[in-house]
Amino acid sequence: MFEKEIYQQRRSHLCELVGSGIILLPGNSDSSINYPDNIYHFRQDSHFIYFIGIDQPDLFILIDIDAQKTILFGEELTMDDIIWTGPMESLSNQAEKSGITQVMPSSALSGFINKAQTENREIHFLPPFRAKNMLKLASLLGIPAQQLKEAASEKLIRVVVALRSIKGSEEIAELNKAAAIGYAMHYAAMTGAVPGAFERDLAGLIDGIALSKGYGVSFPTILSQKGEVLHGHDHSQVLEKGRLMLCDAGAESLSHYASDFTRTTPVGGHFTSQKKDLYQIVLDANNKAFELIRPGVFYKDVHLDCCRVMAEGLKSLGILKGNMDEAVAQGVHALFMVHGLGHMMGLDVHDMEDLGEDYVGYDAEMSRSSQFGLSSLRLGRRLQPGFVMTVEPGLYFIPALIQKWESQKHLAEYIDYSKAKEYIGIGGIRLEDDVLVTVSGCRIIGEKRLPITPVEIEGLF
Ligand code: GLY
Ligand code: MN
Repeated sequence: MFEKEIYQQRRSHLCELVGSGIILLPGNSDSSINYPDNIYHFRQDSHFIYFIGIDQPDLFILIDIDAQKTILFGEELTMDDIIWTGPMESLSNQAEKSGITQVMPSSALSGFINKAQTENREIHFLPPFRAKNMLKLASLLGIPAQQLKEAASEKLIRVVVALRSIKGSEEIAELNKAAAIGYAMHYAAMTGAVPGAFERDLAGLIDGIALSKGYGVSFPTILSQKGEVLHGHDHSQVLEKGRLMLCDAGAESLSHYASDFTRTTPVGGHFTSQKKDLYQIVLDANNKAFELIRPGVFYKDVHLDCCRVMAEGLKSLGILKGNMDEAVAQGVHALFMVHGLGHMMGLDVHDMEDLGEDYVGYDAEMSRSSQFGLSSLRLGRRLQPGFVMTVEPGLYFIPALIQKWESQKHLAEYIDYSKAKEYIGIGGIRLEDDVLVTVSGCRIIGEKRLPITPVEIEGLF
C-alpha cells in the first residue's frame, strides 16, 4: 500500500468531483476454477485498489459524501481462515493504513443502503462486470443484475476516469517496476528464440519470470510465429529458423500496476531482407509516435500519422500505390494495421476498460470513428501530462482478410493485391512500448527500452 495520505487525497478528490450522495464500491471475491474450493489467484478490483488499497477479498466501501464518512464493510479473520490461509493483518489495521477509521461487518451494509434509498439519496456505483459483484449489488440495491450496467452512475464513471487517467509519481514508480519485470520477460523470450524450441517453452519461461518477480502476467501471454493472430494464445509450434516470433507480454507489479510490451524476433536471430524491410517500417512508425506524443495532441492524430508512415513504407515495397494521404483517409492501411496504436495503461493493462472503452479513450471533443481499423483505436482523445499508454504499431498479413478485400476489389486503386499476397506467411510484426506523457513531450516507462533495432536484435544472438 502507498502512504495513507494518498488514499485520503484520492477519496477527497473523488467526493469533491462527484459532489453529493453515496458512493458504493465492491471489492472482488475469490473466483472458482473447476470446483468451489479451487480458486484463481485472487485479484482485487482495480478501483478498490486505487481508492482504498486493501488487497483482500469480500470487502465493500461506502463513502457518504454529504456526511463525510467512509466505512469499510468486511469480516475479521475467523479461526478457520487462520488455519487454512494463515494469520493476516487485522482488517481494522489495514483500514487504518488507508486512513479509514470505521470498520463494520458486511451484514450492516444493507441497513445503510435501505436508509439511503428511503431518503431518496443518490447511490453512485460503477458498472460491475464480475458475476459475484453483480449479484452482491443486485441484492443490495434491489436492481436486477442485467439492469446494473444501465443504472450505474455516469457521473462516477467520468470522475473515476478523470482521476485514474493522470498517474501520480507513486504510480509511475510502480509502473517502472512492472516494466522492469516486462523487460526481463522479453529479454528471455528474445534470446531464447532459437530453432527447435517450442513456443510454449518460452511462454512458460516468461510467465514464470512474471510470477517470480511480481504478481504474475498482466494479461495472457501472446507468443507465436503466427503473429497475424492478434490475440492468439496457442503456443504449440516448434520455432523454425528465420520465422518471426511475435511476443506480446507484460507483468503486474506486486501492487498491481501493469506493463505491456511487444517485440518481434527472427528465430535464430537473423532477418531476411524482406522481413527486415517490413520490420523497419513498423519501427519507423513506433519511433514516429515518440516524436509526436505531447500534451494537447489527439492520440487519434498520432495513430493516423503512424499509419501514414507505414502506408508510405508499404508503398515503397510496392504493396500500396497512389496518394497515401488519400489512401489512409479511406482506411486502406487497415488491411495490414487492423488495430489501434495503443491504449491507456495503469492498474489494468487496458486501463479502466471495465467502465467502457469510450469513457476512457474518447470524450465530447473526440468520438470514435466507425471506419474499419480506426474503430478499434481504444484511445483517441487529447493527451494530458500524466497519461500512460502503449505505442504499438503493427503490420499483419491475414490471409482471410486479404482474400475478402481482394474478392470485393476493396480500395483496389491503392492496393497491389498480388504483391500483398507474396507476404502471406510472414505473419505479423508488432513493436510495443509503454509511454508517459510529460509536460513537454513523452518518455518511455522503464529504465531502458528493450532491444528494438534490427542491429540490436541480431546482436542478441
Ligand atoms: N497487449 C495486448 C493488448 O494490448 O491487447
Ligand atoms: Mn497493448
